[in-house]
Amino acid sequence: MSSRIHGTAVMVALLLSGCSQTESGNDAPPGNSPNGYLVDGQATDINLWPKMGSPLQQDDALEQQVENLLATMTLEQKVAQMIQPEIRDITPEEMREYGFGSYLNGGGSFPDGNKHATAQDWIDLAEAMYQASIDDSLDGIAIPTMWGTDAVHGHNNVIGATLFPHNIGLGAARNPDLIRDIAAVTAREVMVTGIDWVFAPTVAVAMDERWGRTYESYSEDPALVRDYSAAIVEGLQGAVDDDFLSDQRVIATVKHFVGDGGTEGGDDQGDSLVSEQELIEVHGQGYVGGLGAGAQTVMASFNSWHGKKNHGNAYLMTDVLKARMGFDGLVVGDWNGHGQVAGCSNESCPQAVNAGLDIYMVPTDAWKPLYHNTIAQVQSGEIAQERIDDAVRRILRVKFRAGLFDKPSPAQRPLSGKTELIGSAEHRAVARQAVRESLVLIKNNDDLLPLDGSQKVLVAGDGADNIGKQSGGWTITWQGTGNQNSDFPGGTSIYQGIAEAVAAAGGETQLSVQGEWQGDDRPDVALVVFGEEPYAEGNGDVANLEYQRGQKRDLALLKRLQAEGIPVISVFLTGRPLWVNPELNASDAFVVAWLPGSEGAGVADVLVRDPQGQVRHDFTGTLPFSWPNAVDDNVAMRQQADNAPLLPVGFGLKAGQASTLANNLSEDNGQDPSQLASLVLFEQSAKSPWQMALGQWGENGPSTAPIRSSQQSNAAVTISTQDRDVQEDTRLLAFTGEGTGWAMLGTNFAEDLRAHIEAGSALTVELHAAAPLTGPVQLGMVCESGAECWAQVEIQPAIDALSQQWGTVSVDLACFAQQGIDFGNVTSPFLLASGTEQQVSFGKVALVPQQAQSADVRCETP
Ligand code: BGC
Ligand code: BGC
Repeated sequence: MSSRIHGTAVMVALLLSGCSQTESGNDAPPGNSPNGYLVDGQATDINLWPKMGSPLQQDDALEQQVENLLATMTLEQKVAQMIQPEIRDITPEEMREYGFGSYLNGGGSFPDGNKHATAQDWIDLAEAMYQASIDDSLDGIAIPTMWGTDAVHGHNNVIGATLFPHNIGLGAARNPDLIRDIAAVTAREVMVTGIDWVFAPTVAVAMDERWGRTYESYSEDPALVRDYSAAIVEGLQGAVDDDFLSDQRVIATVKHFVGDGGTEGGDDQGDSLVSEQELIEVHGQGYVGGLGAGAQTVMASFNSWHGKKNHGNAYLMTDVLKARMGFDGLVVGDWNGHGQVAGCSNESCPQAVNAGLDIYMVPTDAWKPLYHNTIAQVQSGEIAQERIDDAVRRILRVKFRAGLFDKPSPAQRPLSGKTELIGSAEHRAVARQAVRESLVLIKNNDDLLPLDGSQKVLVAGDGADNIGKQSGGWTITWQGTGNQNSDFPGGTSIYQGIAEAVAAAGGETQLSVQGEWQGDDRPDVALVVFGEEPYAEGNGDVANLEYQRGQKRDLALLKRLQAEGIPVISVFLTGRPLWVNPELNASDAFVVAWLPGSEGAGVADVLVRDPQGQVRHDFTGTLPFSWPNAVDDNVAMRQQADNAPLLPVGFGLKAGQASTLANNLSEDNGQDPSQLASLVLFEQSAKSPWQMALGQWGENGPSTAPIRSSQQSNAAVTISTQDRDVQEDTRLLAFTGEGTGWAMLGTNFAEDLRAHIEAGSALTVELHAAAPLTGPVQLGMVCESGAECWAQVEIQPAIDALSQQWGTVSVDLACFAQQGIDFGNVTSPFLLASGTEQQVSFGKVALVPQQAQSADVRCETP
C-alpha cells in the first residue's frame, strides 16, 4: 500500500454469506423407531411428547383433491415440488421448466437485487413466478408455486414496511393479543407484495444468550413462548375456526425444530445436549402452541441433538413431529441445512428426505444437481416412492388449504398492490404500542423517569438517531447493517420522538452523539441511547456477556456526563441481556429498549410526561430473560438456585416505584488478562464486528467497497472465495498491478484491542502463494483516534519462506504500534495489500496472545 488508507472509508454493509460446519462423521444408530435410541446409548421415549392431532376438521373432499392430483404427477414433477430455490438463483424461465413447488427470498435478497425495490417490483416477480409455475407447456403440469419470506419482525425485507420490536422485546410485553395483531399486520403487508408464506414465528427458548439469535427468542419462559407461538400463528394464518388461510392471511412456519435455543455454549447451529424431557418441556413448547393453532409448516433446525443433525433425524421429524404430535403439514429445511447431515452435501441428501424432510431449502445453484440426484435416488430405491408421495401429499395439502388453486394470481389478490397498507398509520400504531409495552425500566433513582419534558434534554449516544441500529438484524439486509435513516421512510428514531415530546412540553432538546453541549446550553438531564450493533444468526455469537469488552466507549460517555453533574438516563438497545454493571452504576436511570424497530417514537411515549406533567403511558414491560450478574453465566445457570441473576425474569419498575439496584454493583468482570484468548478475525467468514471490504488506491485516493458476492473486483484486485479444507473457507486475491489493491477487515466503530498489546499478541494469517511472488506484499492496520492512523509491514520474505505451501505468517503487534497504531481505536486490524501483479490466498486471521516473541516479523516495543 503505497499511500494512506482512510479508516472512515470502511463503510461495509454486507457480510459474505455465513458458512457453517457440517456434522462430523456420526455413527449414531438412526433413531427411527419409538423404541430406538439416539447416541451414547441414550434411550428415547416418545411418550414424553404430547399426543396431538390436527386442530383442523378432517376434510375428505380436500384429501381427495390431493390424491387425484398426486395420481397424475410424474416423479420429476413430484421432486420439483420438494425443491425450494432462492430468487437469486432461479429465473421465471427455470420455474416454467421445472415447476418448483416453492421458492424463497433470503434475508436481504430483493427482486433484481435492488434493496429499494418497490412493492410493484415484488408483485411483478411473484406474478412472473406464479404464471411460470402454472404454465404447463414445459413441465406438463399446472401447480401454483408459493413464495416464502422471512417476515420476522414485520415484512422486514421491504423498504417502508412497519418494523416491530424483535421477539425478545415482544416477550417483555407479555401480551398475546398484541402479538396476534402484530402477526395480522405482518400478514397484510406481506400480501401487498404478493407473497404467500412467512418463515415465522421463531419459537426458540434461548438458554444461553451468547447465542446470536437470542433476540429471535421471546423468552426463557417456555409457557410464554407456547402462548405467543399460538398467537402469531393465528395472526398470520387466521384462527382455525374463523378466517383460516383466507385471502387476508398467509401461511406460517414454526421454526426451528427443535432445540435451536439449547445448544452448548449458545453456539449457532450447534449441538444440543439436553435430555429428551427438557427438549419437549423447554424447546418443544412453541410447537405445542403453534401446531395447536394450526401452523401448516415447520422448519427443521440447523442444530444437532446429541451429535445428530436434526435435518437427518427421523425420530424427531417423523416419529415425534408427524406421528406423535399429529402434524399433517409440511416440514421445510433450513438454508442448505440438509447439506450438514453426515454423508450429505448441498447437492445430494437422501438421508434428509428419508428422515422426514418434505422440502429442501436449497438457496444456491446446488438446486439443479439436488433435483437430479433426488430423482435418481428414488429410481434406485434409495428413497422410497411412498416417502416422496407422502412429502408431496403434504405440500399439496397445504396448498389446497391455503386456497392457492382457487385464489387469483398474486397480482390480482385483494391486498396485492395496496401499497398504502405498507407502513400505514394504522399498522405503525400497533408497532408503536409494542415499543411502549416492550420497554423495561430496571433502575430509576430519584424518580427521574418519566421525564419532565419542560427541561433541557441532551440526547446522546450512537443509537439516538439511528433507526438501523434500533432495528437490529433481519432489517432490510440480512445482518441489518448498512442502513441509514433514509432507508426507513415513515419510521422514527428514538431521538425524533423525544424531541417532539419535549418540544410539546415546552422543553428543549439537543442531539449530540458524543454528548457534547455548548457553554450556555447546560442540559438538565442527558438521555444516552447506546447498545449492540446489528447482527444476525451466527455472526451474533459472542464469547461472553460483557458489554463492550475491552473498550467501554459508552461507559466513558456516561461517566463524563455524570462527572459534569448531569443526571444520566440510559436507553439500552440490545438483542440480549448483557453484563452492564459498570454502565448501570454510571446511570441514574436505565431502560432496556431491546430492538424496537421502525417506531422509535414509542420510546418517548413512555419516557416523557405530557405537557401537564402527567405520565402518558406507564412502563408495563418486564424482563423476558433474567439479567446476568457475571460475564460468563447464561440463562440455564441463572435458573439454578445458587446462581442468582442480577434481576429475575418478570422484573420491571413502574413510574413511582423505588429503584432496587445498588449504585455500586461489582465492576469486576472476573477476567484474568494473562488468560486472554485468541481473537479470530476471519475464519471462513469475517467475524463480527469485522466485515470484509475490497479497496484500491485510485486517482481520487483510497476507496473501499463492501464485499457482496463470491467474486468481486476493482481495478487493482479481484477477490474470490476458494475451497481449501471446506467449502469457501479461504479467499484468493488476484492483484492486477494497476495501483495498490487490498482486502481488509473493517468496522464502522473502532475496537479496543489494547489487551492484545499487553498480552504480547501477534497478528497471524494463514497464507498461500501458488506461484513465487514477484513483488512486495504488505499486512496493514488502520486506526482512528481523532485523526486517522495507519501502518504497514512488508511480508513478502515471509510468504516466500512458505515455498508455495499454505502456512502461517505472524507479525508482532508492536510493529504496528511503532508506526502509530492506537490499539485502543482500531478500525481495521487486517489489510492484505499489493501493487504488483500476483496472487495470494489467505485463510484464518487471528490475534494470538504470547506470540510476539516468536513472530516471523518482530519489532521492539516502542
Ligand atoms: C441469506 C439469509 C440466510 C443466510 C444463511 C444469507 O445469505 O440472505 O436469509 O439466512 O444467508 O446463511
Ligand atoms: C435461517 C432461517 C431463515 C432461512 C431463510 C436461515 O439461515 O436460519 O431462520 O428462515 O435462513 O432465510
